[in-house]
Amino acid sequence: MFDERLRQKLALQKKQGLYRRPPITEACDGRTVTVCGRRLINFASNDYLGLGRSACLGKKLGAAFEKCGSSSSSSRLVSGNAVLIREAEKAYASYFGHDDALFFPSGYQANLALLSTLFGRDETLFFDKHVHASTVKGMQLGASAIRSFKHNSMNHLDRRLKGASGTKVVVTESLFSMDGDMAPFSVLGQMKKEHGLLLVVDEAHAFGALGNGGRGLAQGVADVSLGTFGKAMGLFGAFVLLPSLYREYLLNFASPFIYTTALPAAHAQGALCVLEAIQRADEARARLAALSQTLKDDLKARGFEVRGDAHILAIEIGSEERAQRLVASLFEAGFFAFTARFPTVPLGQAIVRVSLTTHLTFKDISAFAETLSRLSAELPS
Ligand SMILES: Cc1ncc(COP(=O)(O)O)c(C=O)c1O
Repeated sequence: MFDERLRQKLALQKKQGLYRRPPITEACDGRTVTVCGRRLINFASNDYLGLGRSACLGKKLGAAFEKCGSSSSSSRLVSGNAVLIREAEKAYASYFGHDDALFFPSGYQANLALLSTLFGRDETLFFDKHVHASTVKGMQLGASAIRSFKHNSMNHLDRRLKGASGTKVVVTESLFSMDGDMAPFSVLGQMKKEHGLLLVVDEAHAFGALGNGGRGLAQGVADVSLGTFGKAMGLFGAFVLLPSLYREYLLNFASPFIYTTALPAAHAQGALCVLEAIQRADEARARLAALSQTLKDDLKARGFEVRGDAHILAIEIGSEERAQRLVASLFEAGFFAFTARFPTVPLGQAIVRVSLTTHLTFKDISAFAETLSRLSAELPS
């Protein structure tokens, strides 16, 4: 009976073109990824600045693991509270302009901890409809009332805020992970003054890659910011930037922080190296921006509807099946790209989501645009 239910649900998933079968990647060198023995140019990597394949960072990290050991073997609240982690947290807080910071094993966990623990019955959370799944799950696990507002619609948010009482918290992303567009922080800064609200911003796709020195888009506006190490920072894990009082509260009450093994001290050493690298990455950020703009312009000139203000581009396809077939044809032509389908995006609004990295060349960009255009024309609508 139980097995049958699972089988039926999976069969329905296949019928709707939503079945997930992630490809196995056999090798990756930054620019390319090898799948089924074929080397493909990678348009689906979040290693925006190429740090994830940096030989220098790899070497330093290797040495740190050798020196500090491979595991913290304990929660931060038992014996895993290494001095090196604390030093790195302080360095991150200082660089990004916040009081303090708290490291987490993953961004997913950080969002769960933050949103389910920090806010309770007395607060109302107003969230952009397109925030990440981990943000939604975190809010669902908490006790606060939650209200959505239309993606990036400050008018809708304003109307919602006007009808609310108590402490208001706005939860949004800086560079949206699927749409590739940016939240309007100058307007949000103004609204903070008018409504006296708290602003929580997930900068997973912006920290390192966007803003002055890679400090993201919401500097000076966000009360709490979340960054992940696994994207432009080229590592793994996450960090939350926040006032000291909020940190103390999470450390005492956040189950996803308390009951998990801490990141190893060697990770903190790596995080300090990453911080140095992003300080010096102006040239890489400029190259990333130029590659992204070139691809967007090229695709638009070829008639595609493309959303995205930086290194994430959402190429609108619509039908899940068409998006799947396009990506399969891209694979045959030597390119690795990814379709975002329901429930990641609304039903019938499938996209080819492209993310760029500094490993790519301008030649790769024009070859991708030319190939996608040809394949799309060949595919019956
Ligand atoms: C906006 C956003 N927040 C949080 C996460 C979760 O981060 P992590 O991969 O470190 O769990 C992701 C994706 O990975 C993301 O895109």
